[in-house]
Amino acid sequence: MKIAIMGAMREEIDPILETVGTYTTLEHAGNIFYECTYGGHELVIAYSKIGKVFSAITASVMCERFGAEKLLFSGVAGGISKELKIGDLVMASSLCQHDVDITAFGHPYGFIPEGSVMIEADQELRSLAAEVAVDMGVDLYEGIIATGDQFVASSERKGWIESTFQADALEMEGGSVACVCHNFGVPFFVLRSISDTADGDAGIDFDTFLQSSAKISATFILEMVKRLGH
Ligand code: ADE
Repeated sequence: MKIAIMGAMREEIDPILETVGTYTTLEHAGNIFYECTYGGHELVIAYSKIGKVFSAITASVMCERFGAEKLLFSGVAGGISKELKIGDLVMASSLCQHDVDITAFGHPYGFIPEGSVMIEADQELRSLAAEVAVDMGVDLYEGIIATGDQFVASSERKGWIESTFQADALEMEGGSVACVCHNFGVPFFVLRSISDTADGDAGIDFDTFLQSSAKISATFILEMVKRLGH
């Protein structure tokens, strides 16, 4: 099976590239795409750069040009739910875009006509992740992930995102990747390990925990790849 794995930042895919061994590279549309085989699958791996636009480009290329049959996103997030501590894993049940606002026309926050506020991640991949978590002996939290082109470092903004979307975690790419995959009909999965709690300390915590949390997420994603049917 052709499986796409993407992150937003180099730090989010480095632990994956270090594990898969040899790969070839192809430059296209401002990204480097790394191709290899792992666990009996063909992988295409890339980091998009930060934010909804860059991540949408990368996900689109993975679907359209590389023929990805499934797309797995690995990276870090700001925790909203009090249950989520730094280093914890959260998989998206559904994702939304917290910075979409056409409420002036009577629409709810996050809604774009002909779309929906929430896009649900693939149920089979989420079930597989739940099994992998049990076997690895790690806690895997499932919840709503809210995406926007903002690094959130304020309790006020975080609280607004929580109350408006019932979100458990936030980041800057999952909602756009979900939108791309939904439109291409490619099953997708978004996994994040918490790097900060999106409040006043978020900047410092993010810099401190980016690498360690990214590795926790990447390790889990590769375990999922090994278990995916062919
Ligand atoms: N990714 C990780 N932490 C984040 C935060 N606080 N805001 C947005 N994206 C993030």
